[in-house]
Amino acid sequence: MPVNDKRKIAVVGVGAVGSATAYAVMMSGLVSELVLVDINRERAEGEAMDLAHGASFIKPIRIYAGEYEDCRDADIVVFCAGVNQKPGETRLDLVQRNYAVLKDVLVRLMPLEENGVFLMVTNPVDILTYAALRLTNLPPNRVIGSGTVLDSSRFRYLLSQYCQVEPRNIHAYVVGEHGDTEVPLWSLANIAGMPVQEFCCWRGVPCLNPDEITRRVREAAYEVIARKGATCYAIGLAVKRICESILRDENSILTVSGLVDGEYGITGVCLSLPSIVNRTGRARVLAVPLAPQEEEALHHSARTLKSITSQLDL
Ligand code: LAC
Repeated sequence: MPVNDKRKIAVVGVGAVGSATAYAVMMSGLVSELVLVDINRERAEGEAMDLAHGASFIKPIRIYAGEYEDCRDADIVVFCAGVNQKPGETRLDLVQRNYAVLKDVLVRLMPLEENGVFLMVTNPVDILTYAALRLTNLPPNRVIGSGTVLDSSRFRYLLSQYCQVEPRNIHAYVVGEHGDTEVPLWSLANIAGMPVQEFCCWRGVPCLNPDEITRRVREAAYEVIARKGATCYAIGLAVKRICESILRDENSILTVSGLVDGEYGITGVCLSLPSIVNRTGRARVLAVPLAPQEEEALHHSARTLKSITSQLDL
């Protein structure tokens, strides 16, 4: 493979989410190099071996366990290090523990290659995206969080089940915090250009109950954690999808998290809004028209995140 074809992703932290992300990235054929780093070096080695042993079934790729310095020339550094929610914990409950991990790792990781994108996945993802932005001093387009990309997928999945149409034909976004205050945008949700309720009538299924679907989207991770202890596969796919849009310069619209700079009168916080994602990272944010109650809910989400962020020594 010619050297100038090198595309590299680094995954920092290979617990349940990091290893599922590595697997999704490996399967995608997007990169020629995948480095795994973990505080537990043996764990990273084991995951790298386990993935690499499938080499004959996938496109050529170099997979190895590395050190923090090995991340610096990556096109994307995916940060998955830290603890995850236990049953009964919210994402916000993790903030102090995972902020400490982030600070510790960043001093060893930086500087990144010019144009490298830092992709935060660890929870609480919006707060840690903001912390990473402040601690690295990288431009805001290059420090992004997986945000509500997964929640938007959950929303589309539930609508698809209800409306009996495949999720890729459903346009629907969840914005705000990746967490309890997130906001599904019902006013914009559409299938083939039709508002979802109208589509339900046309499809001959009963009108859906937005509150019930909103609750199921918000509580989706809790439901999985109660049963199997952690979520990993869907978030791994969501992260792969973000990486794909970056590496292939797709200009896809994804609800990644990033710094809000005046949209809806909000500033000084990271949260998710529909954004154009390309080789430069989060290239542009779309300030889509919101219903008044959605805008109020978004402000509530921003206030919640800001009150926690202000407790960090940034
Ligand atoms: C979830 C984790 C990634 O929502 O926060 O599954």
